[in-house]
Amino acid sequence: MDEFKFEVDDLYHETRIIHPSALFQNLSNIKDDSLYQKAKADRVAFWEECAGKLDWFKPWDKALVWQKPYAQWFAGGKLNASYNCLDRHIKANLGNKTALFWEGENGDEKSFTYADCYLEVNKLANCLKSLGVAKGDRVAIYMPMIPEAVFAMLACARIGAIHTVVFGGFSAEALQERINDAQAKLLITADGGWRRGKLVPLKTIADAALANTPSIHDVIVVQRADGRVAMKSGRDHWYHDCLRHAKPYCAPEEMDSEDILYILYTSGTTGKPKGIVHSTGGYLTGVNVTTHWVFDLKANDVFWCTADVGWVTGHSYTVYGPMSNAATQVIYEGAPDFPERDRFWRIIEKYKVSIFYTAPTAIRAFMKWGEQWPKKCNLGSLRLLGSVGEPINPEAWVWYHENIGNYRCPVVDTWWQTETGAIMITTLPGLTPMKPGSAGKPLPGIDAEILNEEGQAIPVGGGFLSLTSPWPSMLRGIWGDPKRYEQTYWGRWSGKYYFAGDGTKRDKDGYFWFLGRVDDIMLVAGHNISTAEVESALVDNQMVAEAAVVGVKDEVKGQAIVAFVILKEGNPINAQSEEILKEHVSQKIGAIARPSRIIFTADVPKTRSGKIMRRLLRDIAEGRVLGDITTLADPNVVAALKEKYQEA
Ligand code: WT7
Repeated sequence: MDEFKFEVDDLYHETRIIHPSALFQNLSNIKDDSLYQKAKADRVAFWEECAGKLDWFKPWDKALVWQKPYAQWFAGGKLNASYNCLDRHIKANLGNKTALFWEGENGDEKSFTYADCYLEVNKLANCLKSLGVAKGDRVAIYMPMIPEAVFAMLACARIGAIHTVVFGGFSAEALQERINDAQAKLLITADGGWRRGKLVPLKTIADAALANTPSIHDVIVVQRADGRVAMKSGRDHWYHDCLRHAKPYCAPEEMDSEDILYILYTSGTTGKPKGIVHSTGGYLTGVNVTTHWVFDLKANDVFWCTADVGWVTGHSYTVYGPMSNAATQVIYEGAPDFPERDRFWRIIEKYKVSIFYTAPTAIRAFMKWGEQWPKKCNLGSLRLLGSVGEPINPEAWVWYHENIGNYRCPVVDTWWQTETGAIMITTLPGLTPMKPGSAGKPLPGIDAEILNEEGQAIPVGGGFLSLTSPWPSMLRGIWGDPKRYEQTYWGRWSGKYYFAGDGTKRDKDGYFWFLGRVDDIMLVAGHNISTAEVESALVDNQMVAEAAVVGVKDEVKGQAIVAFVILKEGNPINAQSEEILKEHVSQKIGAIARPSRIIFTADVPKTRSGKIMRRLLRDIAEGRVLGDITTLADPNVVAALKEKYQEA
């Protein structure tokens, strides 16, 4: 990791402050700071009150057992996640409420009430049981964004099986690695899924993965497409055949609060993915209350989180958070620009989406495509916007607020991680004024500090973000690798504090500004500059759609700044543009941040969740061998970039 130093006067951000409207404030779920007060007075008692919003079969014995770095929350308490997402709503007379509006990319549509979901999940749970899946067994899920992906997760939760969802864009090799690491017994997949007009042959890819996964005994296949796939007799079963014979009720397993709900793989600094482990009671508590607080969710809202269920955002804010709150949601199978660049806006108009949660990378794509696309649709149903996944640059924030939210909708910029399970740092939409580019403050019950190398807290200024007290939805470890858990998250300050890996500054008002991962900090002539800062400055220029910045080795400066830039359509790729952009960055941050080189490109390599692969860009820029590229959205991009860099 690069050396990492911050100075207080690095705080160059303009502090534009935007207040929620009086109307929004008056109607919002959280209108005052009493939650903060309660949490401050007694953090553990506060979280107990939050846990009380769930239905428990048996109350817990002890709220928190904290043997650093291992936490147990609500231990001895018994509950079931699927019961909390389904049964209790039916008991509360919400069986006829729409749970899911699903839209396929090809125009297929289906909707499911809570009663419909309940029946599907119960039947599927019985199928899993009849195929020998028991409590504690692992089930891999490799699916397109279809309702059955949600049912599969909840069916596992119902019988106490641990699901591990593998994003449907991953390769056979990546799927195989995850199945083998988790030792999954059964795989749930589909014959295919639609993406930009093409069928992704998930079953065929899965078959390749299954060539070397001895732990898998059975495969359940959902028919999403034409069903023309090879079915291995004895191993493969059609979902619809299984369900046809399944009994309609399966008693929910009484799980201990600390029993594992799921494993989700995330990339680390090494090539091998980390299987992040989440608990049942603490996790569900975290996602349940944050959905209510941060998204201000009400009974008649239509919530749309655009993340795939293959990512933690889909786990926490499509499945477990919203469904434990009986939300009505939209899920969409495909790409935002298919068949046209207005697909998302058409969906918002059609289903009257009121809460929309997406990623900065998507927002910047929308900016690039232009406001004529959202302008064609009626977005009047929207009342709240959210952002997640990476720092959102102020320009994109403001664009989103103006062009999608029509100045009316608060924007919640939510900082969290696969590891944190739930949102940690953000604004409460009816309470906290917003500063475009800053995520906001730690939520009630969350303690966060900016620490220096020595682990000392810095009240105002920059350093490493740490979450300094245990929280219910925190990861319980890395599957099968406690050493790696201890080293990665607790090794930095000799076991004392959680290391989030984010470079962060806190301003005098207590707002957190995220600067990207700490290994993305460049040291240029002894000054540290965040890649995110330079990117933000670049996209602030009206020619730029997207930018990815890396520090490359430089004889004199230590590191020099190289920017990979995607121009908005119609702007010339030439030396003049390069000069304008270099000058723009100088103007925005200072001459020290002036890129030494700008490489214009059609795309930048990103992980499938949309994060720029800086490590790879550095490898490309410095001419090293490419590492593990299984998480690349489009591997061709890297090849093209590499060529481009080398020929320049
Ligand atoms: C990393 C976690 C959280 C679900 C999706 C990503 C970055 C995430 C923000 C934000 C600045 C953010 C951090 C974090 N990140 N949200 N609002 N502002 N940075 O989950 O793949 O586990 O990534 O994403 O660097 O550590 P993930």
